[in-house]
Amino acid sequence: MKFTNEELKQKINELKNKLSVTIVAHFYQRDEVFEMADITGDSLELAMRTRDDNAEFVLFCGVAFMGQSVKVLSPHKRVVMPKAACCAMARMIDAIYFDNSVKFLEDNGISKDNILPITYINSNADVKAKVGEMGGMVCTSSNAKKIITTALGEGKKILFVPDRCLGQNIANQMGLKSMVIGHEGNPKEADIICYDGFCSVHQLFTVEDINFYRKKYPGILIATHPECDPAICDASDFVGSTSQLIKYITELPEDQKVAVGTEFNMVNRLRPKNTYILSSTKPECPTMNETTLEDLYLTLKAIDDGAPINEIEVDESTQKWAKIALERMLAL
Ligand code: 13P
Ligand code: SF4
Repeated sequence: MKFTNEELKQKINELKNKLSVTIVAHFYQRDEVFEMADITGDSLELAMRTRDDNAEFVLFCGVAFMGQSVKVLSPHKRVVMPKAACCAMARMIDAIYFDNSVKFLEDNGISKDNILPITYINSNADVKAKVGEMGGMVCTSSNAKKIITTALGEGKKILFVPDRCLGQNIANQMGLKSMVIGHEGNPKEADIICYDGFCSVHQLFTVEDINFYRKKYPGILIATHPECDPAICDASDFVGSTSQLIKYITELPEDQKVAVGTEFNMVNRLRPKNTYILSSTKPECPTMNETTLEDLYLTLKAIDDGAPINEIEVDESTQKWAKIALERMLAL
């Protein structure tokens, strides 16, 4: 039997009151799912706030690496996801491709002892574990600059995975030299060597889009996420993580126009007037949008029936090293 959204919301609220469950949702979730959450935020906020939460179950509406990060940080918690949705960027690297990247640097005369790996939180636990074992740490788009500054203090070459754009954007901001594996360049001359992964959603924005909006609305501001190409970030007025973008845009004067280069759902609910999406193509993250209100209800019902579905499991050794990599970040 099909329920309406209002019926589903009512059933979800009833189960929420009955069970020891905290519902967590990333800003990119559909509006109707986002509204049902107890905790919302960007990936850094969600990692920190779910760690301090006491419910037996965390029901995570987001993509798999986010649910995994909760499980890694708090292995005693039971983490379930309405959809085992995967971030396309996180899928662009695994433990073998990580090892190949380290080997590429070694083949170019950089010893393993001189490499400090940093992984964007948008990576699966196996990659975080590899990074943790090599003395490295995790970063998010909110704290990448701080993490890289700290890492540079160790005087090593930074191997940045998997997002080429975030690595290059931070390098540009800090006046550092970067190169991308598989592209032109000598790793010995670079401070940051980036893996060639990317987010297909944030690749939609182009310099032509920026030119179009600047011409159409003189005085408009352009705000973008650092997963966009460096050419886009260089041409923007503001570059920031999800929570930094929210703060920047909601604090603008009401009549200030702004065009935003990031995920559709988040921009759409941000500010009713004078806010535009920086693309004529809908920049919706397909996997973030897989989770529906019905999935949320069915996941709660499965907990209530004593047979939770889509529960996140991480093996002991992966958990141990991935946790070390995440905790090095949280300690900063
Ligand atoms: P935030 O770290 O800004 O939440 O970004 C996560 C993400 O997947 C962006 O595409
Ligand atoms: Fe991954 Fe891009 Fe979706 Fe973020 S928007 S979850 S980086 S695919």
